[in-house]
Amino acid sequence: MRVGVLTAGGDCPGLNAVIRASVRRLSELGHEPVGLERGFEGLAGGSRRSLDNGAVSGTLHVGGTILSTSGYDPFFEEDGVERVQTAQRDDPLDGVIAIGGEHTMEVARRLTEELELPVVGVPKTIDNDVPQTDYTFGFDTAVYVATEAIDRLHSTAESHDRVMVLEVMGRETGWIALFAGVAGGADGILIPELELTVEDLAGFVESRRARGKDFSVIVVAEGAKLAFADGESRDAKATDETDAYGYARLGGIGRAVAAELEERTGCESRTTELGHLQRGGTPTPADRVLATRYGIRAAELAHEERFGEMAALRGAEMTSVPLADVRGRKSVDLGFLEMARTFFG
Ligand code: F6P
Repeated sequence: MRVGVLTAGGDCPGLNAVIRASVRRLSELGHEPVGLERGFEGLAGGSRRSLDNGAVSGTLHVGGTILSTSGYDPFFEEDGVERVQTAQRDDPLDGVIAIGGEHTMEVARRLTEELELPVVGVPKTIDNDVPQTDYTFGFDTAVYVATEAIDRLHSTAESHDRVMVLEVMGRETGWIALFAGVAGGADGILIPELELTVEDLAGFVESRRARGKDFSVIVVAEGAKLAFADGESRDAKATDETDAYGYARLGGIGRAVAAELEERTGCESRTTELGHLQRGGTPTPADRVLATRYGIRAAELAHEERFGEMAALRGAEMTSVPLADVRGRKSVDLGFLEMARTFFG
């Protein structure tokens, strides 16, 4: 079989490890992997290239994606479907491995169901918000980077008696904020799934001061809202811009939280927005292993012609689920929230 491999959506640590593992396993099983460049553009007549074992050599630890990526969605573009069909006629593929987030899984499902183009999905995101799988690769790296940032912010917080607010990514879910906050010993964590008010956060800062701790570190998820005790709640986004898929560009809530805390507690409050530092660079060892497992599974799904499925981690097992079941975003487990609360204030 000729099997296309593509990466779509934002870059994520471990993408190259998935590509490498898929290519190695596909080749081992006697198939021909084909690299589709810039996500679904490569499927719609864009650049393609041969992907042999040599092409993926030395990429396991490298950040980003050797295939490049884009937000191109054939179903959004006026001539997108036609271009995919023409490319499929001129340079036919027997299957495609699409590595991407929840939106990519939706495109993969539609290609399989509506165009009869056989696609296998691999869930990718630092946000860990893809449903039907326990953990996505890239998440551990993002949590590692954010935890290191918390550790470093503690120095200034403690030396200057300040409130240091760290804003992390995660879109509408708080996985990165929660895991990094617990790992870094944050004194308060604001995430979309748990509506803590500004007054609650100020209370954490005050109760620490009452115990002689004149500094605090607060972690804020970019998708969290600014909520007040009187029931008011508002967005604190720095921009109204949207991305290629029409999703809001987040960021800005950390600064708003710091301003509110300074006003309420009188304690000097500063913000650090970690941004794309969480997404770039080398994947952690755990992410390299997880990405490799995803890549191997995806190649095996293609070999078994189990198209319309997504490789998925359930407990310790690498398995698969129908792409049709992968909808919406996976919120943080309530159990994790309860654990985190114990350490607030
Ligand atoms: O989904 C991954 C992610 O990094 C989110 O955490 C973040 O909101 C978004 O992508 C940023 O996207 P962009 O790189 O397009 O600004």
